Parts: sequence; C-alpha cells; structure tokens
Amino acid sequence: MKLDIVILAAGKGTRMYSERPKVLHALAGRSLLVHVIDCARALEPSRIRVVYGFGGRQVPEALADAPVEWVLQAEQHGTGHALRLAMTDIADDTLVLVLYGDVPLTRPASLRPLIDAAADGALALMTVELADPAGYGRIVRDRAGRIVRIVEHKDATPAERALTEINTGILAAPAGRLKKYLAALTNANAQGEYYLTDAVALAAADGVKIAGLSPADRWEIMGVNSKTQLAELERIHQRQQGQGLMDKGLTLSDPARFDLRGTLEFGADVVIDVNVVIEGRVTLGDGVRVGPNNVLKDCRIGAGTEILANCVIEDCQIGAGCRIGPFARLRPEADVGDGAHIGNFVEIKKSRIGAGSKVNHLAYVGDSSIGRDVNIGAGAITANYDGADKHRTQIEDNASIGSNCVLVAPVTIGVGATVGAGSVITKDAPSGELTVARAKQVTIPGWKRPTKKK
Ligand code: UD1
Ligand code: CA
Repeated sequence: MKLDIVILAAGKGTRMYSERPKVLHALAGRSLLVHVIDCARALEPSRIRVVYGFGGRQVPEALADAPVEWVLQAEQHGTGHALRLAMTDIADDTLVLVLYGDVPLTRPASLRPLIDAAADGALALMTVELADPAGYGRIVRDRAGRIVRIVEHKDATPAERALTEINTGILAAPAGRLKKYLAALTNANAQGEYYLTDAVALAAADGVKIAGLSPADRWEIMGVNSKTQLAELERIHQRQQGQGLMDKGLTLSDPARFDLRGTLEFGADVVIDVNVVIEGRVTLGDGVRVGPNNVLKDCRIGAGTEILANCVIEDCQIGAGCRIGPFARLRPEADVGDGAHIGNFVEIKKSRIGAGSKVNHLAYVGDSSIGRDVNIGAGAITANYDGADKHRTQIEDNASIGSNCVLVAPVTIGVGATVGAGSVITKDAPSGELTVARAKQVTIPGWKRPTKKK
C-alpha cells in the first residue's frame, strides 16, 4: 500500500522564547525538522507533507530544497485541524503516518511496526510508559487491555492523570478511516482545539482495532519544548553517534566531549582527543591524530597527519604525514601537500602549500602557490590585497623566505631563491639568488645618547 507521511510543524514553541519557529532550531547542526524529514525519507513514502504555520514562510524558505510538500495552517486550531488540512487530497486507500516536527530522534525501524499495523487496518499509536507522565495525553484502556481513547492532560480526571502510559503523538492509520474521524472532531475541550487524539475514541467505537506500539528507546519519542530539552536531546544524539563511530573503530578520548555536526569518515587507528567539533563532511585517513579543541569543517586529512591542539580547519585539504598546529587556522581552499608543517599562529587561505614545505610560526599565506620544500620564516606575510583586488603570490620549490618579510603580490619568488629577513618584496626575486629589500644597517660612531640637563 502507498504510504504518505504528514509532519506536524505549525506550532510556535512558546517555551523556546525565540522568534524563530521551534522546528528550525538546530540539533547536531541540522534543524529539528530536517531530522524528521530524513527519518521520513528513510521509510520511502510516496510523499511527505509538512504542516507549517507559526513564523510564516520562514520554515519553507529555510528548507527550500527539501523534497516535501508544504501545507499552511494559518491558525493553529489543534493537531486534528492540522492533519485534516494536510489530508484533503490524500487518497483513501493510502496509509498515513503522522510525525511531529519537534521530535527529532525517532528511528525508521521503530516506525515500521506502526505502518505494518495500519496496513492491517488498525489505527496504530506509538505509546510509552513514563514515570512522570505530566503534560502528555494518557492512553486509556478497557478491562481487556484494549485502547479505547486518549485523554489530554488538561482534560483528565485525577484517576486518568495517574495513568502512566502516554501518547507520543506519532500514529499510523489507513487514510480513508482517519479522514472520516477527523471530520467528526469537535473542539469542546479544555483547550478549545481539534484534538487528533479524539479520533481514537471514534475509531474504537467503530470497532477499529487500536494498536499500541513502543519504540526501542525512550529518547526516540522525546520532543523539544525548551532549550533544556534541546540540549538533552543533543547530548543523547551525540552519544549515539559517538557510540556508532567507536563501534567502527574510532578512538574517542571522551565521547561526552565530542560533537559531530555532519558526517565523518575515517580510516584505521584514528584518534580524536577531547573537545573536537566536526562539521559538514570530514574525512580522516589512516592513523590521523586530532588533538584537543579542534574544529574541523568540510575537510579531508591524509594518512598519518597530526593536528595538534586548537586549530580551526575549514573547507580545505591536507595531505599525508603533515603536522598542523597548535593554533593554526586553515581557511577555505587551503591545500596542504604531503609532509608539510603548518605551525602556530599561521593562517592559510586559498593557497597551495607544496609537499614538505614549512610555515612554522606567525605567518599569513593567502592567494598563493607555494612549491615543494619551501621554508617560510616567522612573521612572513603575503600582502595579497591592495584595497580593491586580490593578487597572487608564487613561491617556487626550495625557496626560503626570511623572517618578517612582506611579499607584495603579484610577485614571484624563483626556485631556490632566498629572501633576506625583514624584506619588503615588490618585484620578482630571481631563482637561486639572495634578494634583500631593506635599509642597510649603519653604525654612527661616537654617537651619544641625550642626557637630561641638571
Ligand atoms: C500532543 C498530543 C498529546 C501527546 C503530546 C506528545 C493532541 C491533542 N495531543 O499534545 O496527546 O501526549 O502531543 O507530545 O494531539 N501542531 C500543529 N498545529 C496545531 C497544533 C499542533 O502543527 O494546531 C503541531 C506542533 O507543532 C507539534 C505537534 O503538532 O509539532 C504537537 O503539538 P503540541 O502543541 O506540542 O501538542 P501537545 O499539546 O503537546
Ligand atoms: Ca508538545
């Protein structure tokens, strides 16, 4: 049977105290709603519809490329109202799965049993037992243990509030049946809303089987209503991710101090020390060691390379056997060849650094092509920007740039050239020669320091 998935995401999220719709808040670098959409996609439905409302076009605009259909619920009259809007043209012989845009960690495998039960004609609810069920809708069963209705916390009697089996909100049902019950909902309740949950009593009265199924893990149904809950789910998710990586052989010094906000591929014997943040797509070759306090975003790092503490590396490529840091900053389009060393307080931007070259201390290299086995001294910089345009610097193989040089681009330093310390180089420096561009040192004989008159 065809499956359609509806994600409810129109609510404001008052307790987030934010102008931004709740479902756009990020967990592990992706919005809550993107997590839910990814889960939905894994179930291969024929379509995914997202009901949005609070914050207007912000949600569809933020997720413009998502393969979903957007349904506007201009005023939030409840979960039943939201689903009714989304189901107007869903065919009766379809299965519908309802997810919440603020419940980010549900696993597809936990949803499949619900879909199977719905395919057998049941209205399938995801429920869990909670020691503290306050705030949730409670699952009410008859003496035979059959689910007969859901009562919302605000409408519940003290006896009903004592029930500990709660409604997670996630459900699956045949579309035709669901539509019939949604049409019959009223808003005569404590919140004046059309409760999707009231469909359960209507279905039960019709003799429809109501199935209650539980996820493998409790956190799969946890929603985000506050910054505290967001942080809790972030930690749970990071722990899961860290566990998955360690299961595949990654060494994490402390999985509680590791954050992956994207994807990480890694070879054998990779070691990651504490407080490392990985963003985007990162690939670490065999034997890579990442020291503490590093941020790695969208980069590839070759085998055996060591990243010492406190580096920020973004959108770049680093070869094998390199030593980077501590305190290095590799900006977009840095391309570091095998065996190169990039040391402390060095910034590299849009530059190729050839194999075996060393930029060890306090340097800026931007818009440059640096050959093999070049040495760049402490405090040397490429002056690549004239206030209007960027210009390139070329430093050929085996060149040596002394400390505190300024290479004013565009300029070329030839093969094997040496540039004396403190030079300001504005013209090309020829291969194999020493070029010095600085005032000559003079000594003034007999000069006396002025003294104060008594
Ligand atoms: C709902 C359930 C409750 C369940 C709880 C689990 C109903 C009536 N109650 O309650 O049984 O225990 O979830 O968290 O369904 N939404 C819309 N449009 C609306 C209202 C809500 O899109 O008009 C969306 C929200 O953005 C959210 C989801 O539906 O993603 C749930 O809404 P929320 O207000 O959190 O429902 P609860 O009152 O918590
Ligand atoms: Ca809620």
